[in-house]
Amino acid sequence: MLTNILIATFLLAFQQQNVVAAATQSDISNYQPNTAGEVVVLGGANFTQEVQDHPERSWFIKFYAPWCGHCKTLAPIWVELANTLKGKTNIAEVDCTLAEDICRDYGVTGFPTLKYISKNSAVEFRGARDHSTLLEFTEKASKSPVTYVDNSELTAKLPEQEVSLIYIYNKDQPETANHDTIESVGHALLNDAVTYVTSDLEAVNNLGLQGKSLPMLVLHKNGRTLVYPGQGFLNTKEDRKDILNWIEDRKYPLYFEMGPGNSNEVLRGKKFVVLSFFNPSRELEKQTDLLKATAEAYIESQKEDNGQVLFVWLDGIKHSRYIYSVYGFGGNDLPAVVITDAKNHNYFAENTDGKPLNLANPQAMVQAIADAQAGLLSTKSTIPRAQKTAIFINKAINKARKYWYVSIPAFVAITYVALKPLFAFIASMDGTDSTNKVDKKE
Ligand SMILES: *[C@@H]1O[C@H](CO)[C@@H](O)[C@H](O)[C@H]1NC(C)=O
Repeated sequence: MLTNILIATFLLAFQQQNVVAAATQSDISNYQPNTAGEVVVLGGANFTQEVQDHPERSWFIKFYAPWCGHCKTLAPIWVELANTLKGKTNIAEVDCTLAEDICRDYGVTGFPTLKYISKNSAVEFRGARDHSTLLEFTEKASKSPVTYVDNSELTAKLPEQEVSLIYIYNKDQPETANHDTIESVGHALLNDAVTYVTSDLEAVNNLGLQGKSLPMLVLHKNGRTLVYPGQGFLNTKEDRKDILNWIEDRKYPLYFEMGPGNSNEVLRGKKFVVLSFFNPSRELEKQTDLLKATAEAYIESQKEDNGQVLFVWLDGIKHSRYIYSVYGFGGNDLPAVVITDAKNHNYFAENTDGKPLNLANPQAMVQAIADAQAGLLSTKSTIPRAQKTAIFINKAINKARKYWYVSIPAFVAITYVALKPLFAFIASMDGTDSTNKVDKKE
C-alpha cells in the first residue's frame, strides 16, 4: 500500500504534458501491424523507435504498474484484445515503474491508463475495460477523426453533438490546408468533440464569421463559435501543441453531468468548478436550466468564453455518500451547489453574507464566482476531517478508493495527509524508517 502511494506521489510530482514526436521517413508499405497477435512490451529506447519515430503507425498502449490490482484484472483482457486485433492494430504495454519518463510524458497519473497513439497524438480510453468496449474504441480510434463536409452537411451535423471543431480552408490556397495537423488534433480530441473540415466558404457566413481570414479553426459549442486566435497550422510539434492547449481550456460543454468518464479531469483540474448536486427525480429540468442560465450569465460577464470555470452537476442521490462525506450535504439539502477550487483542495459553500450558495439567482452566482476567485469567500477543505485521527482516515480512504470520483492525485494527496501521522507513529515505534519497512512488506 505505501509503495503504491510513494510511486503514485512520485508520478504526481511530474507535470502533465503531451509528447509529440517528430515525424521521420519510413517505409509505410512494408509495415504490418501486430503480426503475432500478441501484446508487445515497450519501454525505454524501443518505445521511441516503435512509436514516436513512426506517427503513421497506431498503437493502443496499456501504461501500468506491476502492483496495481486493476492492471492485473485487465491483463488477460489485454492479451485477448491483442489476439483479436492480429494483423490490424498494435497492442502494447509499458511498465511505468521501469519507464517513468515515458509515462510522465504521456501524462499517466493512474494505473492502468490506456492510450491510443497515432498521428503524433494520444487519446485516452475512458470506457469500461471489457473486450467489446475496448474493441469498439479501437475501431473508432483507428479511423480518421475528421469528417469532410460541405456547408449543408455541416449545418445538418452540428446539432448532433455539443462540441465540434471546424477547420475551414480555401482550396485555392493548398499550402494553408494542413489536414495532417487537423487529423492529429482531431484524434487527440476524440472523446470530447467531432472534427469537421470544409472548403465550402458558405460555412464562414453560416457561422457568422465574415471577414475573418482563412484558414480558420473554430470551436463550436452550444450554438456559440470561438475562433482560434493562432495562425500556425503546420504539422509541427509547436503548432499542434498551441492548438491543443487552446482547445483543452475550452472544450467542455456549457454545462454537463459529471460521471466516471470525466470526473477525474474535472475534479483534478486547475479550474474553478460550479458543482451542483441534484436529486434527478425532483425538478431535474428546472435545476439544469438554472445551471445553464448561470453558465450563460458567467460567459456574458466575461469578454469571451475562456473556459476558466466549469458548470457541472452530479446525481446527488447516486453519489450521496461522497457528497455527504466531502461537502456535508444530505439528501434533504438537495439541490445544493458549491464552487470548488481543486488546485487548493478547497471549496466555497457560502456567499459573502454567509448564506448558502444557491442557483436560483444566476447573477448572484456569477458574483459568488468572482468573490471566490478574489478570495473573498470563506473556504472549506475538501479533505474531510483529515487531520483528526490517522487510523480513522486510513479506513475512510480505503473505502473511498472504490469510488471513481476520488481521482488518483486527490487520493494521493488525501492519503499522504492522512497517513503522515501514521508514518511518524510507526517510525517512533521501531526506530526505523517507516517507509522502507512497509515497502519491504509488498
Ligand atoms: C523493448 O524493451 C524492453 C526493455 O526496455 C524489452 O523488455 C522488450 O522486450 C523490448 N521490446 C521489443 C519489441 O523489442
